[in-house]
Amino acid sequence: MIHSCGDQLISEATWVLLLRLNRGYPGHDFPRDGINFVMEKLTDQNIFWCLDEVLHEAGMPEERSESLKINLKEKAETATGSLVYTSTTGGLDKNFRINPSAPLPKPKPGQHLVQAIATALNPVDYKPAEIPVVGRLIVPKPATPGIDFAGRIIVPATGSPLKRGQLVFGMAGTNPLAGGALAEFTLAETENAVALPDGVDAVDAATIGVAALTAYQSIVPRVNKGDHVFINGGSGGTGVFGIQIAKAVGCHVTTTCSTANIELCKSLGADEVVDYRKQAVVEALKGSGRTFDHVVDNVGADLNLYWRCHEYTNPQAVYVMVGGTPSFGFAVGMFKMMLWPGFLGGGKRKFAGFFPKPKYEDLEQIGMWMKEAKVRAIIDQKFSFEQAPKAFEKLKTGRAKGKIVVDVASETYRKACRAGNFCAEMEIHITAHNRKDTYMP
Ligand SMILES: NC(=O)c1ccc[n+]([C@@H]2O[C@H](COP(=O)([O-])OP(=O)(O)OC[C@H]3O[C@@H](n4cnc5c(N)ncnc54)[C@H](OP(=O)(O)O)[C@@H]3O)[C@@H](O)[C@H]2O)c1
Repeated sequence: MIHSCGDQLISEATWVLLLRLNRGYPGHDFPRDGINFVMEKLTDQNIFWCLDEVLHEAGMPEERSESLKINLKEKAETATGSLVYTSTTGGLDKNFRINPSAPLPKPKPGQHLVQAIATALNPVDYKPAEIPVVGRLIVPKPATPGIDFAGRIIVPATGSPLKRGQLVFGMAGTNPLAGGALAEFTLAETENAVALPDGVDAVDAATIGVAALTAYQSIVPRVNKGDHVFINGGSGGTGVFGIQIAKAVGCHVTTTCSTANIELCKSLGADEVVDYRKQAVVEALKGSGRTFDHVVDNVGADLNLYWRCHEYTNPQAVYVMVGGTPSFGFAVGMFKMMLWPGFLGGGKRKFAGFFPKPKYEDLEQIGMWMKEAKVRAIIDQKFSFEQAPKAFEKLKTGRAKGKIVVDVASETYRKACRAGNFCAEMEIHITAHNRKDTYMP
């Protein structure tokens, strides 16, 4: 059950605690055992929202209430849980441990402090960190992965129109390669945290961050209604959003996937699906009778798709490379595609690398499309917080159908990290999420 305190919603557990404080000692100072009781039970930051009110009603003298608040704050600041790794030897998923007493992240100006509900995984959560030597420099350790998030604002950024208690989604963290949403509390830059639209499930919105923003920014600014778009890799995290977003802006979509995912791609709106396991992709595109206006490559495994793209695209088409592997061979291939001019035997179409840029309006638009059911979240599997290493194992197979979600505020997480109360309203959002764990085509 949810109660309100001023304009804030607070959990049942916090409410009970506040009532007990208030009723137990009305009009009196708090005896020592009362303070100890609070100190032991305090597991919910929300108490601060109502503390002034309750202490005032309880008749606590101001100097006494100030010291109690400081004690409570200190206790709370060391009582947050997060998933960390300090090494990537053998894969970062083999090195995770739960830190039940991580310090509360301290927001700087322009950052919200957010209580995480769920995160969806992306290859960027492990690929850069696992690059030998360089990974150590670009992702400082100990690190907590998780860029995509949905959560609730605990401390809003100064000047932000978003309020404390507001449910939000977007991209967490202050380093674009590190994230931090696999934790009870995380930070999000104002540009990267958008209000959750009414009626959109928080867990669905948690899948938007990197993948949907990538799909949006690699397609929408480069196409016009009616354009023919080719999306290489339609069934993974970025692909499922790419198909739907291209359709939402009125494009004709051709995509690739393996046999098992054809129905999924069609159900998302793809007009033509090429089974790359059964057909040679360039030949199939040429044989379609279409010339494509735009190409997005979410795979990056077959560079011939670029070298030969003049055979299936119009001369103004741009080939946007989203996918790829952090390997020397791939880096060399990228340089060739970017720098080798067509008149000297290089590619005959414009080539563009890609990295998503934080943009509030883009995230907001995707959230609105989700509200309008023009875009839906495709969740391959949902894992509990403790199963996060398994979630990474699955992601690393490269065979996910849509997104892999880790439910940060799950029951197991609470048991593992905190012995006490959690935000009941979050639980309501999660249990309302009535999805089957596995996507069934
Ligand atoms: N540049 C950026 O800023 C950026 C942003 C996001 C993602 N990325 C990169 O983009 C790539 C895709 O990301 P993601 O999140 O979509 O990964 P993902 O969810 O792990 O992608 C898995 C999907 O890839 C498909 N796939 C694998 N090989 C394929 C092939 N040869 N042809 C067509 N589909 C193939 C699989 O489909 P089947 O099982 O049907 O084969 C599976 O559905 C990754 O390399 C990632 O690092 C880059």
